[in-house]
Amino acid sequence: ENLQNRKLVELHKKAAELYHHVLMNTQIGEPALNYLLERGLTKELIETFKIGFAPQKRDFLSQVFQNEDIAESLFKESGLFIQRDNGEFLDRFYQRVMFPINDDRGNVIAFSGRLLKTEDFSGDDMPKYLNSPETVLFNKRDTLFNFDKARKEIRKENTVFLFEGFMDVIAAWQAGITSGVASMGTSLTNEQIRKLERVAKELVVCYDGDKAGVEATNRAISLLSEHSRFQLSIVSIPEKLDPDEYLRKYGNESFRELALHGRETVFSFKMQYHRLTRNMNNEKEQLDYVNALLQELVSVQSPLERDRYLNQLAQEFQLSFHSLEEQFKQLETQQR
Ligand code: CTP
Ligand code: MN
Ligand code: MN
Ligand code: MN
Ligand code: MN
Repeated sequence: ENLQNRKLVELHKKAAELYHHVLMNTQIGEPALNYLLERGLTKELIETFKIGFAPQKRDFLSQVFQNEDIAESLFKESGLFIQRDNGEFLDRFYQRVMFPINDDRGNVIAFSGRLLKTEDFSGDDMPKYLNSPETVLFNKRDTLFNFDKARKEIRKENTVFLFEGFMDVIAAWQAGITSGVASMGTSLTNEQIRKLERVAKELVVCYDGDKAGVEATNRAISLLSEHSRFQLSIVSIPEKLDPDEYLRKYGNESFRELALHGRETVFSFKMQYHRLTRNMNNEKEQLDYVNALLQELVSVQSPLERDRYLNQLAQEFQLSFHSLEEQFKQLETQQR
């Protein structure tokens, strides 16, 4: 069992090296390398994250491993292959830019592959990202992309940045924000939250600026408020961009400024969030909005903060602080 695990780690390491070699040193990898360079990644960054390329050939990895006489049981357990009815193993990942996913000690335990569309490969009905399945090594609930490399900086700053995508983590790293992690394409799990809580006091949600990202931010905040003791803040990326796109468009400096000095409180995120679905010229919807925010205020613990937000609301809608406070108290007692 333990020996098996070690062999599986060894297998993943080999696979990562092969994919990386294909990307960096072969003609087959050229379109993928150009793609990454055009997206603004440097070779240094590609090295740091050991990004690779899985060629279009369905038996690239399986051939290499078969030639090396690797046991079939390992093939099955690794998640790197798909077995046909006739017993033959095919590569799970092909025509994809390969991001190794590491455990907390830096061992490769899985991959996420991003489809590379080229002239001879449209990949129309294929998912943009494909991840390794769960294996004895890879438990999605426990894993955070880049946690192994980011942990030191997270500890030092006592702050962790949470991103939606791998490319956002990598872009932020390039801009000097090296305390970023991403969950595995799903919402945050309790296991991931515990892991982060052990190394940081503050968490910054930095998801995509599009609708899906804003909704995901809202869910993440609820989850984190309920299941963690993090000091939370939010970076809202303008123009519906994601962090990577923003950084490419406006530069590293501008992104750093936004991420380090443009953080918002949960409440000010909520103020924008609840506006999105409401017509603020309509009086009824305005009241709806105020009520929704008072509702949010119930989970704000600090009396000082509450006062500040109540004041903000009162001013914005020319309501008296007193009546807002009364309304709030009613809501609060109803909750109990
Ligand atoms: N994701 C996934 N499967 C998909 C699309 C997305 O698992 N079909 C996950 C990936 O982990 C991805 C994250 O969700 O990194 C965020 O999705 P998205 O914003 O669409 O991708 P980007 O990270 O922006 O990827 P890119 O910039 O390469 O398009
Ligand atoms: Mn290399
Ligand atoms: Mn997105
Ligand atoms: Mn994105
Ligand atoms: Mn993106």
